Amino acid sequence: MEKKIAVIKGDGIGPEIVDQALRVLNKIAEKYGHTFHYTDVLMGGVSIDATGVPLTNEALETAKQSDAVLLGAVGGPKWDNQPANLRPEKGLLAIRKGLNLFANLRPAVLYEELNAACPLREDIIGDGFDMMIMRELTGGLYFGERKTIEENGVQKAIDTLTYDENEIRRIAIKGFDIARKRRNKVTSVDKANVLDSSRLWRKVVHEVAKDYPDVELEDMLVDNCAMQLVRDPKQFDVILTENMFGDILSDEASMVTGSIGMLASASLNETKFGMYEPSHGSAPDIAGQNKANPIATILSASMMLRYSFDMDKEADDVDQAIKKVLQKGYRTGDIMSEGNTLVTCSEMGDAILQEL
Ligand code: IPM
Ligand code: MG
Repeated sequence: MEKKIAVIKGDGIGPEIVDQALRVLNKIAEKYGHTFHYTDVLMGGVSIDATGVPLTNEALETAKQSDAVLLGAVGGPKWDNQPANLRPEKGLLAIRKGLNLFANLRPAVLYEELNAACPLREDIIGDGFDMMIMRELTGGLYFGERKTIEENGVQKAIDTLTYDENEIRRIAIKGFDIARKRRNKVTSVDKANVLDSSRLWRKVVHEVAKDYPDVELEDMLVDNCAMQLVRDPKQFDVILTENMFGDILSDEASMVTGSIGMLASASLNETKFGMYEPSHGSAPDIAGQNKANPIATILSASMMLRYSFDMDKEADDVDQAIKKVLQKGYRTGDIMSEGNTLVTCSEMGDAILQEL
């Protein structure tokens, strides 16, 4: 098969981790007879430096013309004092909106080989956990109207949180569909005891649930969910939630696994198109030192093969290679524990290529 991939290396550790993922994709292409065409796209701080804005229209167009986007990470202290519209993060929000990527899948999995990195007690870990956070990604508080004004000499800031039923329905449908491919349970997280947007969320999710009698649905308030994630993460299969709650809970869930450097993510629209990126950030403190863990990005590339290209066999191959490398004891600094072999970012790439 022939596929066009837009590649956004971004800032910080972005370029080094994406390079390792590209090596893996090239190896897969060679092994299975595919052709991947890559186009570099600027976004984030590097785009601000080169063009003055975090995402140009041309960059967005290039992404739209491709079959999928592979993204490293954006942001860094260099651009922290920029006005809101000229921050690297704005590029990320704009590309999500521009590509209509309303469904964000963030798996939080405890890797058996990495139990030592999990901060939870052994009796809580049990035989591990594997959940999928489904975050609504193009609505709610992050895309509502906002302004800062002065009223009677007092500064006042306003952010608006809006959802319409269609935005809720389409992410709910995706959530239930994904639950069917997993363990048939959806936990819908909201703040329906306070917020109107959450009451609508709950109502629409329950309507959608009627079409999925085989999937168990439970409602959970977001504060309780934050607690349950550390008290008993095993109870979760799919967590379905709105934009801000999903932002916060997915960071918590990834930390609970102890290996954020291992967690991939996919952002999807209604078609096969998707944007794939690690769940972690640009880690400016270790950028350019060849120390970062490339596994989350390589697993993101594997999700791209699976979800956008229907290349399940190829994706399985990549996932297996990573498992083998972990079993052999290769570890980057973030997941290092006694008795294992510390490797660099590119050495981790070498080790994974070896297994393919
Ligand atoms: C994330 C990030 C972004 C978000 C920021 C960088 C805008 O935290 O992908 O979770 O809040 O969506
Ligand atoms: Mg976040």
